[in-house]
Amino acid sequence: MSVFTAVYPVGHPDPNIEVPDPASIVTNLGSAAEKRHRDAVEISDSLMKNRFSCRYYLPEPVPQKIIEEIIDAARCSPSGNNMQPWEKVYCISGAMKDAISREMMQAHQEAPDAYSAQYLYYPAGPIPPEYARRRFEFGKHHYAPLHIDHGDLKGRARVSMRNYDFYGAPVAFIFTINNALTQGSWLDVGYFLQSMNIGARARGLETISQEAPAKYQLILRKNLPISDNEVVALAMGIGYPDLDKVGQFSAKQPKREVSDIIEFFGF
Ligand SMILES: Cc1cc2nc3c(=O)[nH]c(=O)nc-3n(C[C@H](O)[C@H](O)[C@H](O)COP(=O)(O)O)c2cc1C
Repeated sequence: MSVFTAVYPVGHPDPNIEVPDPASIVTNLGSAAEKRHRDAVEISDSLMKNRFSCRYYLPEPVPQKIIEEIIDAARCSPSGNNMQPWEKVYCISGAMKDAISREMMQAHQEAPDAYSAQYLYYPAGPIPPEYARRRFEFGKHHYAPLHIDHGDLKGRARVSMRNYDFYGAPVAFIFTINNALTQGSWLDVGYFLQSMNIGARARGLETISQEAPAKYQLILRKNLPISDNEVVALAMGIGYPDLDKVGQFSAKQPKREVSDIIEFFGF
């Protein structure tokens, strides 16, 4: 029995399964159940807290069965009225992924203005100062380990080109949403995506979420059976991380403090 299933049996409460009373887990110091509980908390926090956008991968393939397992877990994500609006997940690898990558890279080099995404990921106009500041900070942390200055447009373009081969990930996903659905459903898909991130990490894999390839939705449509009523929302590279390169070239992005995020009332 795994750490998780011992403490939190999977599925709906079953009267025949004896579920440890959470209060006894916490108060019964030193018990095996308490240890399992602590392990579960530690593991789940670590999966979330040590997550990072991985931009360096080993060529090692990701077995299809593991991908199915991740989707099998992520499909349990919550969604408004249980609509489950993760319309389709197109999963590409091998020659298919390489051909799509080549085509997107060529388009990005030769005719980027001929393409556009079907939605605005960022506002077209100015954004509130705290967001502009964090965005600027992101750039500093992103480019510093690569020795690329803010003004080095060629260097930055070289890095952003890597989006189109999914940063070398051996497998990539393309996520679509039905075009009749609205912001609430996009929220739902966010839950699904983070579930995939965590499910991937639990199996030693890492991911990179990518809005950039959505711009080349026409190329994706040409190569994949994406129907007219599907909006290409996001891509995600997935694979086993190249930890040497991650250590050398990536910087962990800073996160906001708890006290900056939450305001308590009535406590
Ligand atoms: C929806 C979404 C879209 C993103 N699109 C891109 C992208 O197109 N290219 C990229 O390099 N990173 C992309 N990222 C990764 C962000 O840059 C990254 O999550 C952020 O800088 C925080 O870093 P961390 O994920 O390592 O904590 C995206 C992340 C999300 C959640």
